[in-house]
Amino acid sequence: MSLPKAYVGLPIQEAGLELLRGKADFEVWEKEGAPPREGLLRGLKDAEGFLSGLFTRVDEELLDAAPKLKVVSNYAVGYDNIDVPAATKRGIYVTNTPDVLTPATADLAFALLLASARRVIEANAFLRSGQWKAWGPELLVGVEVSGSALGIVGFGKIGQAMARRARGFDMDVLYFSATRRPELEQSLGAKYLPLDELLKESDFVSLHCNLTEQTRNLIGEKELRMMKKTAVLINTSRGPVVDQAALYRACAERWIWGAGLDVFVQEPIPLDDPLLTLPNVTTLPHIGSASRTARDDMARKSASNLLAALRGERPHDLVNPEVLGSVGKC
Ligand code: GLV
Ligand code: GLV
Repeated sequence: MSLPKAYVGLPIQEAGLELLRGKADFEVWEKEGAPPREGLLRGLKDAEGFLSGLFTRVDEELLDAAPKLKVVSNYAVGYDNIDVPAATKRGIYVTNTPDVLTPATADLAFALLLASARRVIEANAFLRSGQWKAWGPELLVGVEVSGSALGIVGFGKIGQAMARRARGFDMDVLYFSATRRPELEQSLGAKYLPLDELLKESDFVSLHCNLTEQTRNLIGEKELRMMKKTAVLINTSRGPVVDQAALYRACAERWIWGAGLDVFVQEPIPLDDPLLTLPNVTTLPHIGSASRTARDDMARKSASNLLAALRGERPHDLVNPEVLGSVGKC
């Protein structure tokens, strides 16, 4: 029997490829970044499975070019790159990689929080550029983390993991989420506040929501102006959750104290973006889930989800369960 064809749209770890061998007839896009559109669409012509990177737009055009497609398995927890209703309409499963990257991503968000608060990146540059002349009482003074209030926006798994880390640093934990989670409030020692209140009360605000039409530009000028002048914004979710032009002004004009960012509206962020000129903004190249353990597990998980769908089984991390009732699927 011939194996089902699949296209792997990014060079995933061997741990994932190993699972695919002998189970699918697959091609891998080995280069950096997204495969060029035309070649990708050609590669998907006979494919039943597509293992996608978060930089590939999976839209009507792509799905139309892949008439045999049964599954889009995203190598990421976020899936805002995928037009899920369009996939569902065609009876195509969409899957993601939750859980395995929760600790790594919360760790990175906390690293950004600490680095921003204590000016770690700025201090490193200060030393290496020869500016360190003497120890001084006011040299690179930052914000105290212990005893401060962390406001978590989006209280899914990563938001909750962030709450646990914050408790270990003796922070007060506040959260806002579309759905209130009373069962977690006691176990995590987290207090629910409406977004406006949370922004006013927090010393650090960390974003952990999905990018949807509801969360696009969730944090704009109005929200940034509600924050304390001494507050720090951390974003490890998706760039467009924040109005980046407003954030630049907020940090440049010191409406807030600073920001720590792993994600941007455009990625890679253009090097002439004014945000990159600000010493009070710490920037990382979207490495939230980049631990060896998390990335190997993401490769395994995305491969397993793909294979399950190719076998006609319900994949473990199905994002669109409504597909099971849709036309074209048994
Ligand atoms: C990375 O940003 C992810 O969504 O996994
Ligand atoms: C987002 O706001 C969520 O409900 O986690």
